[in-house]
Amino acid sequence: MTLLGAPAQRDLGAAAPRPVPGPAVVTVRDLSVAYGEDTVLTGVDLDLFGGEVVALLGASGSGKSSLMKSLTGFAPITGGSAVVDGHELRGARPRELRTVRAGVGQIFQQFNLIPRLSVLTNVLAGCLHRTGPASALGHFPAHERRRALELLDRVGIAHKANEPARSLSGGQQQRVAIARALMQQPRVILADEPVASLDPRLADSVLALLRDIAVSDGIPVLVSLHVVDLALVHSDRIVGLRDGRALLSGRAGELGSATLHELYADEEDPDVDDL
Ligand SMILES: Nc1ncnc2c1ncn2[C@@H]1O[C@H](COP(=O)(O)OP(=O)(O)OP(=O)(O)O)[C@@H](O)[C@H]1O
Ligand SMILES: [Mg+2]
Repeated sequence: MTLLGAPAQRDLGAAAPRPVPGPAVVTVRDLSVAYGEDTVLTGVDLDLFGGEVVALLGASGSGKSSLMKSLTGFAPITGGSAVVDGHELRGARPRELRTVRAGVGQIFQQFNLIPRLSVLTNVLAGCLHRTGPASALGHFPAHERRRALELLDRVGIAHKANEPARSLSGGQQQRVAIARALMQQPRVILADEPVASLDPRLADSVLALLRDIAVSDGIPVLVSLHVVDLALVHSDRIVGLRDGRALLSGRAGELGSATLHELYADEEDPDVDDL
């Protein structure tokens, strides 16, 4: 089996039926991303369907964050296309970008909460695009406040609603960030290393929560991870990036741990050529 160095993406799951029918919410075709002269993604294809968790694996610098950023217009697309909820990102104008961003829930390694504001206000920030400038001053409609409290209950920290965000543990802060993302009523969730700052137990519980959201709400969750075993346990499909190319793609159950670890192998390693 030749794995490393193979130029094209292999779809190991092509023969199996899709777990979730319906049109893709995100469709990426032959995508290239470049920062100036530096091309960091080449020929990437990706579909995300409602109800599934897709894990993005790859060594540091392989392009995981750049792929996610391209889906919100924060990374420059130089070739191919990326369509999110019907909007083409390549060449999108600012107004269309705002529309796309409003529908994409983003979750980050460092949570990106406003530390001095209450947990509830941080969650409410997720609906600012709906509620307008008055809400920026803290005046949110009652129904949005109710919804924010319901979401905090859903992620298990309603009792912290009035605490400042900075007083919460890392795992709790990530739950606030997830509630904030849900407050957007997102069409898709992009989680860039959401558990990299959490201990293994918390990492498991946050990824389980994301899985539950994908299934219950019928939205796709794209999550980048650095731990192969977490991807195997918590995702439906895995896409492996290497040097800016999608080197493999398949259902978690079909891609063995050994195959996935090759994403991180040293290209000069002579053993790899024997695979
Ligand atoms: N804003 C930028 N300007 C220039 N180059 C960038 C920028 N952001 C990323 N890169 C480059 O793009 C490549 C891919 O980076 P990216 O952050 O997408 O990788 P990653 O897989 O997310 O890595 P990590 O696992 O460390 O987060 C790297 O070579 C990086 O240096
Ligand atoms: Mg990254």
